[in-house]
Amino acid sequence: MAAPAIRPGIRPAHKPVHKPAKKRSLPLARVYGLLEPGPVVLLSTSHQGIHNVMAMSWHTMLEFEPPLVGCVVSPGDFSHAALNSTRQCVLNIPTVELAAQVVGCGNTSGERVDKFARFGLTAVAASLVAAPLVAECYANLECRVVDTRMKNRYDFFVLEVVKAWVDPACKAPRTLHHRGWGVFMVAGETLKLPSKMR
Ligand SMILES: Cc1cc2nc3c(=O)[nH]c(=O)nc-3n(C[C@H](O)[C@H](O)[C@H](O)COP(=O)(O)O)c2cc1C
Repeated sequence: MAAPAIRPGIRPAHKPVHKPAKKRSLPLARVYGLLEPGPVVLLSTSHQGIHNVMAMSWHTMLEFEPPLVGCVVSPGDFSHAALNSTRQCVLNIPTVELAAQVVGCGNTSGERVDKFARFGLTAVAASLVAAPLVAECYANLECRVVDTRMKNRYDFFVLEVVKAWVDPACKAPRTLHHRGWGVFMVAGETLKLPSKMR
């Protein structure tokens, strides 16, 4: 029998992207490591005279402009109270050179540790919010909390980015992407493909 016609303009699929493999069951506690988008960010806050910073990878874009970002900040984190009270923070985007500091900020509490001092990070005044920028990060997003309707249920805050800073010299940032349980991927190759997206 003749092969089914392919509509003009539609190209047949290339080689399978991924060779089908015999899969194994994955414990549900490991699912987040498959979907966590990254990049891992450092969320900085300032509350009652204390600058603090924590690692965060559970975040998602919600809107182009003004940019809205949803994020999960656990009530067990010292940062939660600061974010909740001040309704301000900065999302600082580190590159792989800061991996040790990121893990440090994700495994210590600002309740007991001055993480800027402990991990050699530099706090710089932001322009529109009280939370500090982390100078060593290649990009910094000053944010205000604009929606807390899902906070009680999911510890989910919606942030509006009100000011964004980026290092123009950092053309291909090697950001960190958390795969769970202390494993990270580092962003690598950049592809430029046709897109209607902005
Ligand atoms: C790579 C990484 C990603 C993390 N992502 C999140 C997150 O998205 N949300 C969260 O509540 N905690 C997250 N954490 C845990 C916090 O960073 C951690 O509890 C930290 O000690 C909180 O600091 P704080 O008590 O000073 O706020 C992450 C930790 C690591 C190492």
